[in-house]
Amino acid sequence: MLSDVLVVTGGTPLTGEVRVRGAKNLVSKAMVAAVLGHTPSRMFDVPRIRDVEIVRGLLELHGVRVTDGDLDGELVFDPSNVERAGIDEINVHAGSSRIPILLCGPLLHRLGHAFIPDLGGCHIGPRPIDFHLEALRQFGAIVDKTPEGLHLSAPNGLHGIKFTLDYPSVGATEQILLTAVLAEGVTELANAAVEPEIVDLICVLQKMGAIIKVHTNRVIEIEGVSRLTGFTHRPIPDRIEAASWASAALATKGDIFVRGARQADMMTYLNVFRSIGGSYEVDDDPVGGGIRFWHPGGDLRPVVIETDVHPGFMTDWQQPLVVALTQANGLSVVHETVYENRFGYTHALNQMGATIQVYAECLGGADCRFGRRGFRHSAVIAGPAKLHAHDLVIPDLRAGFSHLIAALAAEGTSRVHGVDLINRGYEDFEAKLAGLGARTERPVTQAA
Ligand code: EPZ
Repeated sequence: MLSDVLVVTGGTPLTGEVRVRGAKNLVSKAMVAAVLGHTPSRMFDVPRIRDVEIVRGLLELHGVRVTDGDLDGELVFDPSNVERAGIDEINVHAGSSRIPILLCGPLLHRLGHAFIPDLGGCHIGPRPIDFHLEALRQFGAIVDKTPEGLHLSAPNGLHGIKFTLDYPSVGATEQILLTAVLAEGVTELANAAVEPEIVDLICVLQKMGAIIKVHTNRVIEIEGVSRLTGFTHRPIPDRIEAASWASAALATKGDIFVRGARQADMMTYLNVFRSIGGSYEVDDDPVGGGIRFWHPGGDLRPVVIETDVHPGFMTDWQQPLVVALTQANGLSVVHETVYENRFGYTHALNQMGATIQVYAECLGGADCRFGRRGFRHSAVIAGPAKLHAHDLVIPDLRAGFSHLIAALAAEGTSRVHGVDLINRGYEDFEAKLAGLGARTERPVTQAA
């Protein structure tokens, strides 16, 4: 039996090629959208990651037939027999992902009832669902919170709403889109999130027959329709995974061609990458194109960045990049404005020799909603630091990848525990690492 530990010997620049497929944070939502259709849907380029398996399991529990298509990465969803699932069976998925909350609207439309288990996902703050529940109530849902999970019903159907999000939440925007498309009447959502993954979800829904207008100033208007069909879709590439490999190239002084990466989705990241002193080259070929990222030699420069909603610098880009910033010559500042508690991972980097201080003040940018509330959400990184090996425990998906990069950039051999978590969002990461010349090994444990 393989253990959940990866033994990583650092010091080798990562060089070679990796391929990214459909974005995890679109694919899982498009799978949920398939429930809304009355005919089968088909998606290409679906990555083999655990989050996809979890959503597949949930859909199958609700009677959606999910089959592999002829092509590698092709999935077909047949929702003609959507049915209620047993609470115990659904609860097997409790705590494993945040996607189940997005099933509320689709299941209410198809069955008039939904049961949602306790949510999971990465532990990066309290991650409330108040926006979701408030919107669903306004649509006409009755929400009953019980110790076993959420029961929702819609005895009088779901009707369009006028709703303003207090913060442009990705999940709440998706919740409202997935509910409004089949609700009676018009829904107007103000202060919506407009991430590329959301625009791609709108494309999916539009293919299904929805009428969705994206206005200026983050206003989205959805005209409810009475019936949707299935879709055929090739998702946008995973810009978080692409940036993770780019940061790995920079941190290890390597050179990685990320096949499938797309410039348009990564402009903000590319600007920062270049400001630090990294080099990149875009290959626009629709088949086999991508972006090559490399460390051109010489000193890296420090930067001041602030994470934000799109088109800002993504919160999921910061953790791997911070590892590269430990190698820059001077003080870098990262102000995290999306999640209040996303710097826990820096403790381990400090144990490896980095110098990172985390502050409660809003540093290097405008005041955010976490300022003066005591959340340690700004980091100052002093470099260059000589990283040395250490035993690491992976706390969450993106922080986990940053731990891996740190171990690969460090001198010596680190043991990275809890490495299976990375399979939630990075397809075949061990094979990809091996292909880039990383020295890693999974120790075999004796079965009990
Ligand atoms: C999505 O999470 C992504 N997950 C996250 O990626 C990503 O970091 C995040 O969007 C921001 O881009 C998926 O798509 C599965 P939010 P989501 O609702 O939708 C607050 C990864 O590693 N909020 O935009 O859960 C919330 O607390 C993951 O791939 C409320 O206050 O994020 C946070 O501070 C990690 N009430 C902020 O909004 C609510 O009801 C943004 O969260 C909902 C959210």
